[in-house]
Amino acid sequence: MTDLPVRLDTIFHEVCNARGDLGPGRVLDVGSDHGLLSLKCLEEDMATNVICTDIRPDPASKSKLLLEQSGYKTRSEVKVTDGLNGVSVRAGDVIVIAGMGGLNIIDILTRAMGGLAEDIKSNIELILQPQKSTDLVRRYLADNGFEFLDETVCKDRDIFYNVLRLRFTGQSYSLELRQVYYGPKNLERKGKDSLTDEYLEHLTEVFTVRSRGNDEIRAMLQGG
Ligand SMILES: C[S@@+](CC[C@H](N)C(=O)[O-])C[C@H]1O[C@@H](n2cnc3c(N)ncnc32)[C@H](O)[C@@H]1O
Repeated sequence: MTDLPVRLDTIFHEVCNARGDLGPGRVLDVGSDHGLLSLKCLEEDMATNVICTDIRPDPASKSKLLLEQSGYKTRSEVKVTDGLNGVSVRAGDVIVIAGMGGLNIIDILTRAMGGLAEDIKSNIELILQPQKSTDLVRRYLADNGFEFLDETVCKDRDIFYNVLRLRFTGQSYSLELRQVYYGPKNLERKGKDSLTDEYLEHLTEVFTVRSRGNDEIRAMLQGG
């Protein structure tokens, strides 16, 4: 069985949680690069099939080679494409978009979710791990009717990562500023999980610096 680095292992655990909600189904690994996450999902029976996409041919070839050499040729498909262009999303799919900037994630989701029927949207889960602009991703998700099921913090080689898991309800809602910046589920876990507490403290340090040039962040910090 493949051993994943901490960040990918945290994402994999969220795939397992999504599978628990949805039952058997596919994993769509957007920006799959090396293909390690997809391989782990197949090995652990967390995906009936995987579809890997990457916008660049070289990473897509890496995923394809890994999956085929590991014996999963018939249960995997690798596409060179932008986001989920050319992939038809189905009920039961778990969509993973990890290791990319928040604006790229929003762009991919906007295009992928746009024409999708409500009954399909309501029967998939999203697992997102933005490298930056997580506040913008959270706003997009709330505006577009995605409910936060979980936010998990991990620390890999001394860098914090936040992994978000969501499902579509179609009911848009507003997040408070603190929820936008710190994460609604991270805040619920405050005082209950030492790594989340460490992450929230780290974010406060980052936001304190950013607040010098950003009125909204300053207001958020002053609001407690
Ligand atoms: C830093 S890697 C992350 C790989 C993997 N998802 C992970 O979390 O370890 C980002 C990958 O996403 C791909 N990528 C970036 N933008 C993309 C897009 N719009 N559609 C598909 N792939 C994209 C890049 O080519 C790269 O291979």
